[in-house]
Amino acid sequence: MSAISESDKLPADFQANNRIAIIDFGSQVTQLIARRLRNIGVYAEVFVYDSNEYDRVKNFSANGIIFSGGPQRLGSNASDSKKSGPPEKISFRFDDRLFELGLPILGICLGEQILCSRLGGEVVSSRDSEYGPAELEITDYCDLFDKKADSSSSWRVGSSVPVWMSHTDKILSIPPGFKSVARTSRSSHAIITDPKRKIYGLQFHPEVSHTCGGELLLKNFVRRVCRCIGQWQAQNAIDKALDDIRSKVGEGRVLCALSGGVDSAVAGLLINRALGDHFYGAFIDNGLLREGESEMIELALRPYFGNNLQCFDESERFIDALLGVSDPEEKRKKIGEVFIQCFEEIAQNLQESFGKIEFLGQGTLYPDVIESLPPVVGGVSQKIKSHHNVGGLPEVMSMDLVEPLRFLFKDEVRVIGHKLGLDANFISRHPFPGPGLAVRIPGEVTAEKCAILRKADKVFIESLQHGGLYKDIWQAFAVLLPTKSVGVMGDVRSYGYCCLLRAVISDDGMTAQPYAFKPEFLAHVASKIVNEVEGVNRVLYDCSGKPPATIEWE
Ligand code: XMP
Repeated sequence: MSAISESDKLPADFQANNRIAIIDFGSQVTQLIARRLRNIGVYAEVFVYDSNEYDRVKNFSANGIIFSGGPQRLGSNASDSKKSGPPEKISFRFDDRLFELGLPILGICLGEQILCSRLGGEVVSSRDSEYGPAELEITDYCDLFDKKADSSSSWRVGSSVPVWMSHTDKILSIPPGFKSVARTSRSSHAIITDPKRKIYGLQFHPEVSHTCGGELLLKNFVRRVCRCIGQWQAQNAIDKALDDIRSKVGEGRVLCALSGGVDSAVAGLLINRALGDHFYGAFIDNGLLREGESEMIELALRPYFGNNLQCFDESERFIDALLGVSDPEEKRKKIGEVFIQCFEEIAQNLQESFGKIEFLGQGTLYPDVIESLPPVVGGVSQKIKSHHNVGGLPEVMSMDLVEPLRFLFKDEVRVIGHKLGLDANFISRHPFPGPGLAVRIPGEVTAEKCAILRKADKVFIESLQHGGLYKDIWQAFAVLLPTKSVGVMGDVRSYGYCCLLRAVISDDGMTAQPYAFKPEFLAHVASKIVNEVEGVNRVLYDCSGKPPATIEWE
């Protein structure tokens, strides 16, 4: 990293705490900023945007502040009356004292517009929205780029960089002291900088993978401008999780829901490590698992949890609860309810021998949170679906939640799992949703459909393993469609189910692309499924990305 020049110096009373405060304005990807910073080795915490948070942000003693994006609109119609969109303006209680802290600030998307409008620039409503890919043209130097001499970087004057945009309002004029250093065809102020006050604005999202090399801008902001040292590692995340669990639970007891996936196993290991014998692990077979999974999970988890693990077969109860239910959200809610009923009963039984169980532990990850609840921390992000371990919970529960992975992403959890000594094959298993096969059987779920899907899924996954493809794919599974179609098998007319194959590549499940199989491989799997799985006579492949589709079908 290049040396810090005189002009890079921060105020004399500056205390380097090696961390960044992120002010959340409700973007779906705010936690992605925090995650990118952890990747760079810098710890960040997310705060809500209203003025009540000012003291907490101040006391956090960050090295710098990032304003996230968000769905709200700031634009005044004054200068753009012909183009102005509907008046969606929302006034928020933003605290201008944040600027008086004298810390470096980076505003992203709405965050850039906020700092512009607060510091004397103008943001206007516009119908000229800019969503998706855009080409950024860099016209001048800024501290967020590599030093001028480094011509290998695409972040340099004269370069053109693919970026990801998501805004409607636009910046008409920038505040005094700022200069624009990059533009797109629709944004004249795509990057702005006030090098003296160390305030920067990006109209695009550097945190999403579609912005080519966006992490470099974040890295230069936190390491070069804010002077954070990149020391944050998986071990810090483990220590913080252990501290958080102990301070939340104290002398209490936690019943931890173990699903057989890596997330709940890692959450369980953390809670177990933090609390010792005040941890009780429970694995419930809900009848919505894959072939042989229940037995495999018990074998895999027993070495880690010993007698603190209990397994229960509640499959009939779940299948009964799902009879006649075909709406996706209702299915998720029903499954969530039955899970909680089971856990409350288990807690009640444990209580008789060991004392009150006040907490339920879960391996909820951040993508589950953001897609289930509006909002996660004061934001206004949209609900996509109710992940059973978050949005599917009943309003009233006798146990409080302990979710040590709530702000982490899958790949981070895998690193922590590795650090905690979890078996490598277990860690690299594809994600499997809590509501299991129920969200892979659109329409009503029956035991018969589950049995068909289990067989088809097994053929697909084993073919991936034999073909050496399993590890290249982020998640793969079969779906049993509610459609039957006509076929001909052995000169006889058949009328069977359509099975659909889904395989995606992804970093974190927030976005995904379909895996590009060779046609021969798909043909081989299709033929094997039709031959070996009774009831299926047609196989399809899902070519949709996320967005617009989600990874699961429901
Ligand atoms: P979607 O379908 O929302 O899935 O694109 C993103 C990732 O989350 C998993 N998923 C879940 N995981 N409980 C979970 O623990 C759930 O209710 C749930 N729903 C989806 C999904 O398999 C994918 O990896």
